[in-house]
Amino acid sequence: MARRKKQTKNMSKMRQLIAKLSPKSTVAEQYRTVRTNLQFAAVDETLQAVLVTSASPEEGKSMTAANLAIVYAQQGKKVLLVDADMRKPTMHYTFQLENLQGLSNVLVGDTMVAQAIQASGEENLDVITCGPVPPNPSELLASKRMQELMNDLRQSYDVIIVDSPPVLAVTDAQILSNVCDGTVLVVRSKQTEIEAGQKAIEALRSVNARVLGTILNGRDKKDKNYYYYYYHK
Ligand SMILES: Nc1ncnc2c1ncn2[C@@H]1O[C@H](COP(=O)(O)OP(=O)(O)OP(=O)(O)O)[C@@H](O)[C@H]1O
Ligand SMILES: [Mg+2]
Repeated sequence: MARRKKQTKNMSKMRQLIAKLSPKSTVAEQYRTVRTNLQFAAVDETLQAVLVTSASPEEGKSMTAANLAIVYAQQGKKVLLVDADMRKPTMHYTFQLENLQGLSNVLVGDTMVAQAIQASGEENLDVITCGPVPPNPSELLASKRMQELMNDLRQSYDVIIVDSPPVLAVTDAQILSNVCDGTVLVVRSKQTEIEAGQKAIEALRSVNARVLGTILNGRDKKDKNYYYYYYHK
């Protein structure tokens, strides 16, 4: 029962993209601040592919990834959002797209990349949805084909935002961090335990991920800024 409720929520209008619907809102402004800070964090280095993850479930990874992709696209960058959360994919709901052909199909060699890329409805923003959920996500994400795919996509897009499962649950995010240039960790206000956040950062660093910083999601409304960005040096 609870599970069904949650699923409906994921599929419903609750998955609103604030950066799209209210570009002038404070929250959209905070996403733009995150975008700017990422650009500063990557001065002198390439930051084309950005992995968005968090320590645990439901901390706002997917919403952050989608909104970040939108504010990059609004800046005129050619952006691709990749749903690499093959455990709980959501981007097809968020952007109301088909999910018949997506990342999983490309990785098993069923589908050409071009067929898996869909227009999001937002100018400059394309999406690769997850595709059918495979039994072996980690294996697929660690494959040579995934590396080749990312290299191909880098030729066509200015920015690639990759959504992923939680770091402490499965190895997927660690694997994905190695095909991305940097990783941001979403931390949910009053939800993420400090210890879990630290463990997630350690887990990412143990595989040489470049952890760019954390995004604090869901800070109380009465505070002016919902979304903060911190550096980890
Ligand atoms: N700041 C926020 N305020 C209110 N609701 C939020 C906020 N951030 C996320 N949510 C809601 O919380 C739920 C989880 O968000 P989201 O799907 O982005 O998290 P996730 O980390 O990707 O979860 P999962 O681990 O299941 O992939 C969604 O229903 C989303 O609309
Ligand atoms: Mg998610």
